[in-house]
Amino acid sequence: MVDPSLQPDAGDALLAEADSLHEATFHAVARHAGHAPGRVNLIGEHVDYCGGLVLPMAIDRRTVVVAAACDQPVVCAVSDAALDDAVTIAWGDVATLKGWGAYVAGVAEIMRREGMLAGIEGVTIAVASDVPLGAGLSSSASLEVATVMALIALSEQQRSPEEVARIARRAEHEFAGVPCGIMDQTISVMGVAGCALLLDCLDGSTRPVPLPTDVAVVVADTGVSHALATGEYALRRASCERALAAVNAGRTAPLAALRQATAADVAGASMDEVDRRRARHVVEECDRVAWFAAAMEAGDLSTCGILMNRSHESLRVLHEVSCPELDRLAAAARSCEGVFGARMTGGGFGGSIVALVAEARAEAVVGELIGAGATRAFVTHAAAGARSERIRPDRARRKDESAS
Ligand code: GLA
Repeated sequence: MVDPSLQPDAGDALLAEADSLHEATFHAVARHAGHAPGRVNLIGEHVDYCGGLVLPMAIDRRTVVVAAACDQPVVCAVSDAALDDAVTIAWGDVATLKGWGAYVAGVAEIMRREGMLAGIEGVTIAVASDVPLGAGLSSSASLEVATVMALIALSEQQRSPEEVARIARRAEHEFAGVPCGIMDQTISVMGVAGCALLLDCLDGSTRPVPLPTDVAVVVADTGVSHALATGEYALRRASCERALAAVNAGRTAPLAALRQATAADVAGASMDEVDRRRARHVVEECDRVAWFAAAMEAGDLSTCGILMNRSHESLRVLHEVSCPELDRLAAAARSCEGVFGARMTGGGFGGSIVALVAEARAEAVVGELIGAGATRAFVTHAAAGARSERIRPDRARRKDESAS
């Protein structure tokens, strides 16, 4: 199955789309763009908010945001995914927004508050993306990060990758109301082509882990949108915070994060049994991530697959963030020839599974997963992280010429 968004010019096509949308909507030419990929997490799920280890990779699907300054004190935004739903909002009213506009305007508002838009009265923004929405592939983080990148370019600022991720996450916390960890924004900024990224969410350190050339990463979407599960996400986070407090009770040197607890700490502390199951998942999942990264570096894909399967079981039984559709699709993937392992990826309660597959079988497995009920399935490649660019002033004219 040939997916048009995987063609080499996909980035340019998206840029052209965002560019035209901006011009058609705001009758102004945008000169700055931010590009930011979605992600798939290979292993290390629901541990980033506990200072854990995660191993995501940026995917070759991205969001492009183009931006220009305007002379009104407003944020105006339009998206290819919601053409009838353009947003115009005064600074200060941004908190009243819901949906995709809250992510875009939220980022702009955070940057304005932090003094990063000095001298800019207002902004017009257009968005084009081929990251599937609601599929657990971080379309929202890619939107936030692309917006930060475009506005940094517009305001002629330099920011470190960590700062870009921090701003994007702050917007998600304050304007989208999701108390997410740092994984999605970090991998969208710092992705490395051909590699997954081992990220230590306690100290922020990263290590690229190359993907062996004989393996492919396949993503399959259940079609169940996870959008309504933000309340459950916050509950998992709160559970882990209570478990940390319980482990720390009576300790002279309290742990900074649940990730530092041992299995014995979790087993021995006095806490609610549900919280204990959540904490067990976190501690064991972090061990699996370290083991997985070492196995991948050694080319031991069978071990990687076993660890992915175990991760899924732990998310299903201990952390309780899976759903029947994810369980069925992961099981279907495991039964395909050439699959080393499969698990849910992202926040759960719907969205996608990820499978590690022998390269030669990848396209066949895509077909088999569609046959098993996936609403979409594709092979994805580890891509580089976010970037910004200055759009060529002659871009529109060149487009017209090439069309004629
Ligand atoms: C969502 C959050 C991340 C992470 C994952 C689960 O994607 O945004 O911070 O917690 O869920 O691993």
